[in-house]
Amino acid sequence: MIRSRIAGTGRAVPAQIMTNADLSKMVDTSDAWIVERTGIRQRHILEPSRAASDLAADAGRAACARAGVDPSTVDCIIVGTVTGDCPFPATATFVQKKLGAAPNGCAFDLSAACAGFLYGVSIADAFIRTGQFKRVLVVGVEVLSRIIDWTDRATCVLFGDAAGAVLMTASDGPSGLLSTHLFADGAQAEILWQPVGGSREPLTPEAVAAKRHFVQMNGREVYKHAVRNMAAGARIALDANGLTPDDVTWVIAHQANIRILEGVSERVNIPMERFFTNVDRYGNTSSASVPTALDEAVEQGKFKPGDILLFAALGGGLAWASGVARW
Ligand code: ACO
Repeated sequence: MIRSRIAGTGRAVPAQIMTNADLSKMVDTSDAWIVERTGIRQRHILEPSRAASDLAADAGRAACARAGVDPSTVDCIIVGTVTGDCPFPATATFVQKKLGAAPNGCAFDLSAACAGFLYGVSIADAFIRTGQFKRVLVVGVEVLSRIIDWTDRATCVLFGDAAGAVLMTASDGPSGLLSTHLFADGAQAEILWQPVGGSREPLTPEAVAAKRHFVQMNGREVYKHAVRNMAAGARIALDANGLTPDDVTWVIAHQANIRILEGVSERVNIPMERFFTNVDRYGNTSSASVPTALDEAVEQGKFKPGDILLFAALGGGLAWASGVARW
């Protein structure tokens, strides 16, 4: 049976670090409040001269190099992002060019916020299993620092910039992706969104003055849905493969907030020691968080052949996803 496998991972993180102490000079907050409520200690911020596609290309190049694949031989580039270079064309097309891969293969973006990377992995898996494509690069990239209101302490302390990527290929061995599950609940679309800048409310001086071009969030509602739905998605993923929580070696879940991860840990009955976490150093990097964590875990030699990895993520939409892979 042909399945897809992750042949290489990569990440790109901006050099500039913003600590909680830096933030406490900008808004009425403190390191103690941020650490207690979120577990975040610092985040990385992209320099003004660079865009999402620069970070995404760096992460994609690293994933291809680790897989031993020339980027110009990639059949498809999928970029999950809500902070792309511009409304159109797709950021993936800029990435293709920056990787020296244009005009080979196809390139497109997908919008599923923090679940964007896992949505991309699921689509790549389907392409590979049907035989349509052999090599698919999936990137999660966000430059959330550009759409955050830096005077709003309720949101600005949460997010950071980064990109992570995987190069997926076909596998006929035991390792690879065992399943993915995708979910959405559009009834909750307005609890986490960027209202202005599209066809519904175009960018106007009035909208900018009202700060409606920045991220708007009902934090408490998002928190509840995140814990409940990521845990439910994770359980569905395990059941679909006849696995129990004890079978899971590592959980690579969306790094929104340490308390959300602890809530998921409790609900799925997998101890926090088996959750790989890096939210303390990166903050919430939305679609970049799962591939960035995955790449760090690979770099640290956390996985051995046969390990079972459980993935879960939720973000604006609401959109959420889960998956299981055998390493
Ligand atoms: N520093 C200090 N005080 C703050 C800050 C801050 N940065 N932000 C809010 N407060 C204050 C509030 O004003 C409020 O004060 P009040 O009681 O005087 O009114 C108090 O802290 C409590 O505010 P709450 O919003 O009720 O705090 P809560 O415990 O819910 O924590 C948080 C807020 C951390 C945002 C939480 O709701 C959360 O984690 N939500 C999930 C949001 C999230 O992760 N979003 C990311 C995108 S979605 C995703 O990735 C899953």
